[in-house]
Amino acid sequence: MKKVLIARGVFPEIVEALARRFDVEHNAEDRPWAPDELARRLAGKQGLMATVMDKVDAAVIEAATELKVISNIAVGYNNVDVAAAKKRGIRVTNTPGVLDDTTADLTWALLMAAARRIAEGDAHVRAGDWKVAFGVQNFLGADIHHATLGILGMGRIGQAVARRASGFDMRVIYHNRTRLPEERERTLGVTYAGRDELLAQSDFVVVMAPYSPATHHMIGAAELARMKPSAILVNSARGGIVDDAALVAALKDKRIAGAGIDVFEGEPKVHPEYLELRNVVLTPHIGSASRATRLNMCNTAAANLTAVLEGREPPNPVN
Ligand code: DGY
Repeated sequence: MKKVLIARGVFPEIVEALARRFDVEHNAEDRPWAPDELARRLAGKQGLMATVMDKVDAAVIEAATELKVISNIAVGYNNVDVAAAKKRGIRVTNTPGVLDDTTADLTWALLMAAARRIAEGDAHVRAGDWKVAFGVQNFLGADIHHATLGILGMGRIGQAVARRASGFDMRVIYHNRTRLPEERERTLGVTYAGRDELLAQSDFVVVMAPYSPATHHMIGAAELARMKPSAILVNSARGGIVDDAALVAALKDKRIAGAGIDVFEGEPKVHPEYLELRNVVLTPHIGSASRATRLNMCNTAAANLTAVLEGREPPNPVN
């Protein structure tokens, strides 16, 4: 029987389904394993199901001499050294498609929370600081309706974010490595813009690109300086695309009005100064975190892993 390692705690039904076909070791405790522990546990295993927090680097891959498949429970796969895996003939798979809408929903939740100061208002009420029932100038935020939304990265999730903007009568501009076909732009109601133009014109800038060396610190001090002082930045894509130190400085100096951030450089560590700022809404990497979607992601990852171990082409190959 082939052996499989599930590196983080997943739903019991996923473990049960895989255990009908394979000899499964499951990290039910859900304590993240450091690369050396992951490597040790991978000895003699043919399959690995991992999350974006499990670093499957060249050393882990080198040590895993029997490994045939790394099945990521994520659309992103920047935790895996895909080149090293390819060299060893190990298939890498991901879970595209199933999380687009849920991640777009969360992106909008952050955008709206930052625009309308939801977290700040909630903290105010809970702290017992709400002493005057109504104030004409209390908790003034930014209008979302009829504003300009700029989306950096127009893949499936970027497009799902754009679709949701029509209910708010927004102007939507986007920038992407490759421009969408005209027909698609028309259907989505979006207009292509240069990156600097997008940064300068948008009331809301949403980062929706995958992480790679090319997108590392794609939003830094220079890009933040191009944004309107009234603008709000949202990142629910990947930590490291936004330079956290530069964003903290821009928020502190009110060079932009606010931000909604779900992903961080070196998470779960968070730049300590974010915690002191009121004009940023922080969530703990929960873009795809609805029960239905996480279950779908696990099922997709299990199907990918099973296909490779049974000698079939996986539905979602990365390499
Ligand atoms: C992804 O799918 O890449 C999300 O970040 C969840 O891990």
